[in-house]
Amino acid sequence: MSTELSPHVSDITPGRGALRPARSWLHSDAPSLSLNGPWRFRLSPTASGPEDFAADGFDDRGWDSIPVPSHWVLEGDGAYGRPIYTNIQFPFPIDPPHVPDENPTGDYRRHFDLPADWSDAERVLLRFDGVESLFRVWVNGAEVGSASGSRLAHEFDVTAAVRAGGNTVAVRVHQWSAASYVEDQDQWWLPGIFRDVTLLARPVGGIEDVWLRTGFEDGHGRIEAEITADASAFPVTLRIPELDIEHVWTAPGEIAPLDVPDARPWSAEQPRLYEATVSTAAEAIALRVGFRTVEIRGDLFLVNGRRVVFHGVNRHEAHPERGRVFDEAHAREDLARMKRFNVNAIRTSHYPPHPRLLDLADELGFWVVLECDLETHGFDQVGWAGNPSDDPAWREVYLDRIRRTVERDKNHPGVVIWSLGNEAGTGGNLAAMSAWVHARDAGRPVHYEGDYTGAYTDIYSRMYASVSETEQIGADGARSPLLNCTPAQSARQRTKPFLLCEYAHAMGNGPGALDQYEALVRQYPRLHGGFVWEWRDHGLLAAAPDGTPYYAYGGDFGEVVHDGNFVMDGMLLSDDVPSPSLFEFAAVTRPIDLVFDGGKVAVTNLRHTADTADLSFRWRVEHDGVRVASGELDVAVLAAGESGWTPLPPVTPAPHAETWLTIDVALASPTPWAPKGHVVATAQLDCTARRPVPTVRQQADWQPCDGHRSLGIAEFTGGSLVRLGDRPVSGPHLELFRAPTDNDESPSDGVEGSDDSIAGTSHADLWRRDGLDRLTVRRIGVEHTQDALRTLDKVSAANSAVWVMMESIWSVEDGELELRVEIEPSHGWRTVWPRIGIRFDLPDVAAPVDGAEWFGLGPLESYPDSLHAARTGHFTSTIRDLSVDYARPQETGHRAELRRLTLTSGATEVLRIRTLADTRGRRPGFTLSRHTPQQIARAEHPFELTDSTTSHLIIDAAQHGLGSRACGPDVWPEFALRPESRTIRLRIAAG
Ligand code: GAL
Repeated sequence: MSTELSPHVSDITPGRGALRPARSWLHSDAPSLSLNGPWRFRLSPTASGPEDFAADGFDDRGWDSIPVPSHWVLEGDGAYGRPIYTNIQFPFPIDPPHVPDENPTGDYRRHFDLPADWSDAERVLLRFDGVESLFRVWVNGAEVGSASGSRLAHEFDVTAAVRAGGNTVAVRVHQWSAASYVEDQDQWWLPGIFRDVTLLARPVGGIEDVWLRTGFEDGHGRIEAEITADASAFPVTLRIPELDIEHVWTAPGEIAPLDVPDARPWSAEQPRLYEATVSTAAEAIALRVGFRTVEIRGDLFLVNGRRVVFHGVNRHEAHPERGRVFDEAHAREDLARMKRFNVNAIRTSHYPPHPRLLDLADELGFWVVLECDLETHGFDQVGWAGNPSDDPAWREVYLDRIRRTVERDKNHPGVVIWSLGNEAGTGGNLAAMSAWVHARDAGRPVHYEGDYTGAYTDIYSRMYASVSETEQIGADGARSPLLNCTPAQSARQRTKPFLLCEYAHAMGNGPGALDQYEALVRQYPRLHGGFVWEWRDHGLLAAAPDGTPYYAYGGDFGEVVHDGNFVMDGMLLSDDVPSPSLFEFAAVTRPIDLVFDGGKVAVTNLRHTADTADLSFRWRVEHDGVRVASGELDVAVLAAGESGWTPLPPVTPAPHAETWLTIDVALASPTPWAPKGHVVATAQLDCTARRPVPTVRQQADWQPCDGHRSLGIAEFTGGSLVRLGDRPVSGPHLELFRAPTDNDESPSDGVEGSDDSIAGTSHADLWRRDGLDRLTVRRIGVEHTQDALRTLDKVSAANSAVWVMMESIWSVEDGELELRVEIEPSHGWRTVWPRIGIRFDLPDVAAPVDGAEWFGLGPLESYPDSLHAARTGHFTSTIRDLSVDYARPQETGHRAELRRLTLTSGATEVLRIRTLADTRGRRPGFTLSRHTPQQIARAEHPFELTDSTTSHLIIDAAQHGLGSRACGPDVWPEFALRPESRTIRLRIAAG
């Protein structure tokens, strides 16, 4: 029995011997010694190996060396096991609190010399900032304790164990333990000592802990200090030079609030911090103080008296090579990037990050929801039977976790909400955590999404609520009870501010509908925005068999159970490349709104605190994407929340070109996160003089044709196009398939979104059922006139009785080659379609097509429910850059509302295509790729798409929306593509 062999791993305990109460992670001038660096390391397959390695004189010369901090599964090229990815599933039998005998266990050892001048220290502490999942510690052979709570700090008093000169520390880390049952977050399981290890000398007369609680009310700052120190350590002095504060507390009891009349407030937009020190004769602690008051008033969440809107992201600690090991430079750049994309808030899903992250968040300016390290989601699979959240045996584990969370990070002004954890069901232990937080910190509300009925938390929180449900919550919607609530519980929830702790699941290509959520937030004050799931993909850098690097996801390491690419659901790809969804997010959450009306524009400052003095409003006029005039608008400074009208420059529409006025709102000077000129919002006004679209010339005398002929630059055989100019080209082929996105592949719950959804069946499965990926053609006829050729094709799939008629008419109009394609579905199609398009294949020739130049929407891809980042303009791109390298290849690259496209090969123009709007004024979009949708759909990773020099151009009359059905609502009905007749008209010229 594993319980007998390894008693520690199955113990329900937060550990033994770590210091309590936990305290702040402080910047002190007391001596410390980092124990990061190479440690001796040995990995065993079970937890129960002999403990002799902990002995002082143990000979570890045969052991390997491993860096601390690190995860052992990411070191040693696979010699120490592999990462495992699961979402909800436990990668071991659900047998709480037991874990299997197969329990990878890492033994670590290192020597250190105790600095000679530490002899007068009162105490020596050994701090671990993060170890996954249960560890035991020995110093010079004496066990000093054990701890679990992987993403929490633990300190041990090792005063009695250390000695002058050389010392040995030994640590045994078990991958699995009882704690694993409460650490079932959706992420990689990554064992090891993955955060810093530090030895701390605690001086006589030092400060054990300090908490500078701040407030900002009626234009005044306030500090309420809590100093934990021996009476003999006093006097304690607080100094804030910038505010001329030097305040001395002479004894512990008499700490009264301090009024700070000159303080300026801290906010995420204006993160005003003041350098402070709190010192005794023996120790000085450096803090950065931000003054702000967090408050819930009715159903509003306010900071400094103003409503906060969270344009947030869920942030995991994820690095493609280091896993959850903190890389400060990388994290800082990540946070700066968030700021550049208008992200103003972070939920630290689902555990406290490295403590330095919060310093960065204070400094750069983010509202932070700081979440405890807790999730028991796997119990959902057994109807929550045995869920630790409601089992008194686990109470102390839960309390220990929340105490460590709050105590460590309580000084950060950026932290405005405490979150108890994620997806841990509900129960008395969560209620006890909340009660503890309320008693300890009255200055910040408590969040936990799983408290559906609002029994013990302060904020009404949901994840993945649909647009309609969110609207109902915003609009009060007292008609029906809320999810999982009785009418009385619903009434209670309705009195609270609402936030979406997760929404807009950004897996693969998507999400759609970000704008719809934002519109609701602007309409209903109770809705405080939310946190996109999630900031970045968690791909781990790996190599394909041929050495090609790629980002691995679940299953790539041969896991027994795993959840595939569900871990790749960020707006940022694993290699830090922002996906189009991040640009969409930035456009939708713009801090400045511009609405045109006649010759003027209404400018609205949507910010929380900042006025518009830091911004410039630059305009430009373009004719067919070419700039003809530009300047700067004179916009009066607007306070946060204010609007004002500004006259527009006069714009004269060009006679033969589209005329667009664009306004970019940009930073007038550099910030710590972006250079001067960085654009925070853009708006465009179409000033084009309307011109009629050439009507379709009706042709009469059609004659049967053997199909061999040429028309302008086009050559046909059997009625089929074989050549355009000097290029072999085939097409148009009807293309109704797109390589399914992760949202397309996701089974429906049968409730949301488009009325085609069938419970349990994904759109992609329905498309494959209907054979959209394997269409076949029967040519019904080929006819011609003197200057035209037409073909009629019936397109269908094996074993299908529904079809699409496609008529293609080539003609010469006004000296130009025109192709008009009429697409007409039969009755009986039962699903939405991914696209209605025509494909041209340009096979390999000496100089393959390798780029595009176009006038239309760009520069990035756009889909019907994700269009805000796209602007009308003239763009160029290589064929490579037209596609996004989603971790699992899928539909990518559609650029809507195309006017003109030139395919290029190096500097040579190969083909020039102009689109004509259909009778309803709609224009097609285009995709140019080296691979067909069918080829892309077969690949699981980008490296499986083998090199090709063939290019495929798809002109789409329409595309289906994106939605976020991989975890959330399907495509909104308005953006769902139902089978319908469409016309595509192109004018084509050779280069
Ligand atoms: C939520 C969960 C997240 C993540 C997401 C889907 O239910 O809280 O951790 O799993 O779904 O990616």
